[in-house]
Amino acid sequence: MKPDAVICIQFVLNGEKTMLEVGAHETALHAIRERLSLKGTKEGCGMGECGACTIVVDGKSVNACLMAAPQLDGRTVMTVEGLGSDGNLHPLQEALLDHHGVQCGFCTPGLLMSAQALMGETPRPTRKQVTDAISGNLCRCTGYQQIVTAIEKGAKYTGGES
Ligand code: FES
Ligand code: FES
Repeated sequence: MKPDAVICIQFVLNGEKTMLEVGAHETALHAIRERLSLKGTKEGCGMGECGACTIVVDGKSVNACLMAAPQLDGRTVMTVEGLGSDGNLHPLQEALLDHHGVQCGFCTPGLLMSAQALMGETPRPTRKQVTDAISGNLCRCTGYQQIVTAIEKGAKYTGGES
């Protein structure tokens, strides 16, 4: 395939059927941020080490900076924009605020996506499972205790606990 080839892809993004033309060598991160203007997904290291770009693809957390945009074709994708809405935060977002798990916020969308993928598989995760699930998400501000507690609590609000 020519490096400048353009490919038409179709996928479900935050519940909406989405069609998009992407470059053969474009990253999913670039397609989401620049072509679709969804700026919640952050670019940190650009090399799979910080987790700022984490999205959920077919229920799994993925570093969007390492995924080729054409690989989005046919997949079901969630970005942080798919979690809550203006004035109606998702319980995980509420829990992060309540437990002081946000400072500059740069890591927050990626953390939320890792937590969302975890909850899809394990609705009531243990603290260890939360810690493992966010082990690829770096936060330079908070220390991690508040974040882990928030995800544990948030998972209980949304998960199996009645
Ligand atoms: S920007 Fe993708 S892991 Fe850092
Ligand atoms: S809150 Fe600043 S990097 Fe996590």
